[in-house]
Amino acid sequence: MADTRDEPLVLGIETSCDETGVGIVRGTTLLADAVASSVEEHARFGGVVPEVASRAHLEAMVPTIERALKEAGVRAKDLDGIAVTAGPGLAGALLVGVSAAKAYAYALGKPLYGVNHLASHICVDQLEHGPLPEPTMALLVSGGHSSLLLSTDITADVRPMGATIDDAAGEAFDKIARVLNLGFPGGPVIDRYAREGDPEAIAFPRGLTGPRDPAYDFSFSGLKTAVARWIEAKRAAGEEVPVRDVAASFQEAVVDVLTRKAVRACKDEGVDHLMIGGGVAANSRLRSLAQERCEAAGIRLRVPRPKLCTDNGAMVAALGAEMVRRDRTASAWDLSADSSLPVTDPHVPAEEPAHPHGRAHGHGHAHSHDHVHEMSKENLYS
Ligand code: KG4
Ligand code: ZN
Repeated sequence: MADTRDEPLVLGIETSCDETGVGIVRGTTLLADAVASSVEEHARFGGVVPEVASRAHLEAMVPTIERALKEAGVRAKDLDGIAVTAGPGLAGALLVGVSAAKAYAYALGKPLYGVNHLASHICVDQLEHGPLPEPTMALLVSGGHSSLLLSTDITADVRPMGATIDDAAGEAFDKIARVLNLGFPGGPVIDRYAREGDPEAIAFPRGLTGPRDPAYDFSFSGLKTAVARWIEAKRAAGEEVPVRDVAASFQEAVVDVLTRKAVRACKDEGVDHLMIGGGVAANSRLRSLAQERCEAAGIRLRVPRPKLCTDNGAMVAALGAEMVRRDRTASAWDLSADSSLPVTDPHVPAEEPAHPHGRAHGHGHAHSHDHVHEMSKENLYS
């Protein structure tokens, strides 16, 4: 095995939704992946409650960081950087992670990297399949996002090809599971029921697949309504709802559109690698249909194992390590959580100062990681 000791050792913190994730990575090697989830606290509400998530992050933060350091067998002082999800995500939840990352980075004298949640979902695949091919097409599907992204350099160039115009794919799974009284989150149970159902039993609509529709955008709200109406009609007629067939037919409609559009984007752009990430990438039918269609089109498919597909800290550490390796500018101490951080910003670098020597102790602006020790304490709180 190659000697990896020279590769950057980075701790990553993820708190954009309901998972408090802390991962530690050396280069593209995963050393620790500690996750504390508040998903059970949200279950009775049928969706993530932001305030509940923020509080849970606060409680889980320090223990999860300690668990990750122990699991990795590394000392905090040996880290080369601290990375954190700066956005997009729930504002209050993000803020807990960003504040913790600042505190650790400042106390340890390490550079801070505020990174993009979506780029992290792509970069995590390096931990499983090695360096990302450039370019890579990425299909990101979770409870919060459904996007097709093209990247030639995950630290600097992420181009949106398409996205959902209404609900995220995972949201549709969660909604249909709720209508079927299967609990929350809906993806895993629908997946399970669908295995015993007929995907062709009911012809549910494929959103935005008409000849005049945008080629790479998605829509799941029409499908959601169609499935809910179909179920209601059965119930109103006093008939039994064939749960397995509904699950299989609904799931087929979602993954048919996702894979069709992803493969089409690869072909149109001449990209021969597709990666799939996000919680919905755990879906067994999405994986098998994507494999089938990629093979037919001569595209190599990369899907990380399910634990790396859902939100976790390792993905943030993976992108942070790549930032260090490529010598990207670290973030400033006044880094903020940005709930709508554009997908085109893989990270949030400190602005270059207009007068590099004019503001030695000042306004929480630019620092490279060489200068991190010189920052004055006020900056942390500015
Ligand atoms: O990435 P993730 O953990 O958190 C977000 O950023 O949203 O994704 C969670 C979403 C949920 O909507 C959940 O229902 C869905 O991923 N999901 C699945 C499966 N496992 C999780 N959807 C379909 N099939 C699955 N096996
Ligand atoms: Zn996510």
